[in-house]
Amino acid sequence: MLDTLEEIKRNLQKEIKGISTLKGAEQLKIKYLGRNGGINDLMKLIPTLPVEKRAAFGQKINALKVEITDTIEGFIKKLSSEAIPKIKSEIFDITLPGKRPSIGKRHPLTQTIDDIKEVFARLGFDVAYGPEVELEHYNFEALNIPPDHPSRTDFDTFYIRDDVLLRSQTSTVQIRIMEKQKPPIRIIAPGRVYRPDTVDARHSFMFHQVEGLLVDEGVSFADLKGVLNQFIKTYFGQNIQVRFRPSFFPFTEPSAEIDISCSLCGGKGCNVCSYSGWVEILGAGMVDPNVFKAVHYDIEKYTGFAFGMGVERITMLKYGICDIRLFYENDIRFLSQF
Ligand code: DAH
Repeated sequence: MLDTLEEIKRNLQKEIKGISTLKGAEQLKIKYLGRNGGINDLMKLIPTLPVEKRAAFGQKINALKVEITDTIEGFIKKLSSEAIPKIKSEIFDITLPGKRPSIGKRHPLTQTIDDIKEVFARLGFDVAYGPEVELEHYNFEALNIPPDHPSRTDFDTFYIRDDVLLRSQTSTVQIRIMEKQKPPIRIIAPGRVYRPDTVDARHSFMFHQVEGLLVDEGVSFADLKGVLNQFIKTYFGQNIQVRFRPSFFPFTEPSAEIDISCSLCGGKGCNVCSYSGWVEILGAGMVDPNVFKAVHYDIEKYTGFAFGMGVERITMLKYGICDIRLFYENDIRFLSQF
């Protein structure tokens, strides 16, 4: 009998070694101390013993029960104290801010084009597109640019063949639209243009322009001023100053260049505005009658205005970007700021 008690103790020690979870420890407790457990089985033996041995045996069992209880409870305590730090480290704090997945963004030039489209959409302008590989006719001829004009040389234009080129301006779209449609016309034409410029902080062989054209009966220079003023104030802010300077373009007469007060120094003078306080952002003018003749419009009936702007230039002025090359390098540190 006493051997059995010793064996129970040894078994318990062996079994404890194989247990690493609280659940396992609880099961062990039931196995030894539960109603149908080992200790109770021993208790049931007492009445079968001779009367004089019962008391001593009973005491032994009680001592064993205390010992087993202490062992198992101690073991459970040990397991729980090891488990607490683990549970703590696994707790999910739902009040912590989430990790934002990094998603793509529109390129800053696309954003500018979208902004320009939106302002002009409110003024009733549709969006039109034309080809980047273009006939000389649309890039020069129909725009009243004379055959000996310096912009026609291959210093200023990429030629593919004698009469085929990469468009050097989006003014080409004016002609393509007017060939197809009768007035009233109100369009803007965003897109890429190409010029064989050496790349530096301000030049690129490819850049973006937005062309605008409005043709109808009775359109005047006052309409041109009104529309462009409205665009500039909406895009750059109400406090920006605008000035119109007389200029020359073959496809408009009269022509103007439009300056805004330098948005970087607020007009005080800085290296971006060459210390003048003004920066040029648009070319514009009343459509030259020769252009209307090229598309067979009645020049007695219709007048119109056109304008063109550089998307990179406008974006650089708006955000204070000092190098055009940043737009084409796809450096995520630059792009993610917009
Ligand atoms: N096409 C001109 C350029 O590339 C910009 C321009 C100026 C467009 C005056 C126009 C305009 O329509 O009227 O520099």
